[in-house]
Amino acid sequence: MRMDYDFLKRRIYEVLGIDLNSYKEQQMRRRIDQWLTRYSLEDYAHLVERIKSDAEHREKFTNYLTINTSQFFRDLGVFNDIENMVLPRITAGGKRPRIWSAGASIGAEIYSIALLLKKYNQRAQQLLATDIDEAILDRAEKGRYSPNEVQNVPPALIEKYFTNDENHLVLSEEVRTMVTFKKHDMLRDLFPKPFDLILCRNVFIYFTAETQERLIHKFVDSLVSGGFFIVGSAEHIMDPARFGLERQSYCIYSKL
Ligand SMILES: C[S@@+](CC[C@H](N)C(=O)[O-])C[C@H]1O[C@@H](n2cnc3c(N)ncnc32)[C@H](O)[C@@H]1O
Repeated sequence: MRMDYDFLKRRIYEVLGIDLNSYKEQQMRRRIDQWLTRYSLEDYAHLVERIKSDAEHREKFTNYLTINTSQFFRDLGVFNDIENMVLPRITAGGKRPRIWSAGASIGAEIYSIALLLKKYNQRAQQLLATDIDEAILDRAEKGRYSPNEVQNVPPALIEKYFTNDENHLVLSEEVRTMVTFKKHDMLRDLFPKPFDLILCRNVFIYFTAETQERLIHKFVDSLVSGGFFIVGSAEHIMDPARFGLERQSYCIYSKL
């Protein structure tokens, strides 16, 4: 008997701990089918066998399912607003903010914030970066990037904080140690708090509308009042007041 998608979801939850019920079904099924073709796996049952028996395949598949694409200063317009509006507000009067990047992937987003803090000689009380995928967090901690991933970093910051290593750029330990990386599944784990700024960008797009709503409430609950919440450029929050948020600019909201 062929294993159907519901059954596959249960097996993936058991083997990888990833709850596909909260991810958009059509998009996920298409991705999984592409994976079957790529690895010449006949059907879902063969996929499950493979991820159970082959640790390397399991890690690659987790990576693929959770979609880790990221880069430094992704969406320059948003980082412009972070630099000129958000950071001055949350560091006003010498305050040391607490900042959380949820769905942090390779760490490029939180390190971009760390570089901006350095630029203005500001310090944070906490820079937290979390992701469901432990392998990507390992990569983030090592801070080794392809030229494409750092293409938006201003040359002066590349010069100051990166070294070359075989066609890759390695971020200095001085910046890497500013950030704490932790495994966290936003669908299952308790949310840490309080934060002055939370970024959860390019993650919601993979979730169903109900899951997105549930998560927005939880993120808002983790913010101090007046704190900022930033989503990806394709993830506008409709009727932000419903969540106790006010739109400040493109993708950027503050807690009322
Ligand atoms: C496309 S990346 C976004 C990276 C970064 N925020 C950015 O905008 O460049 C999406 C990240 O969300 C993570 N992710 C997916 N589901 C998650 C979950 N349930 N909890 C935490 N992170 C999750 C993935 O592992 C992946 O690293």
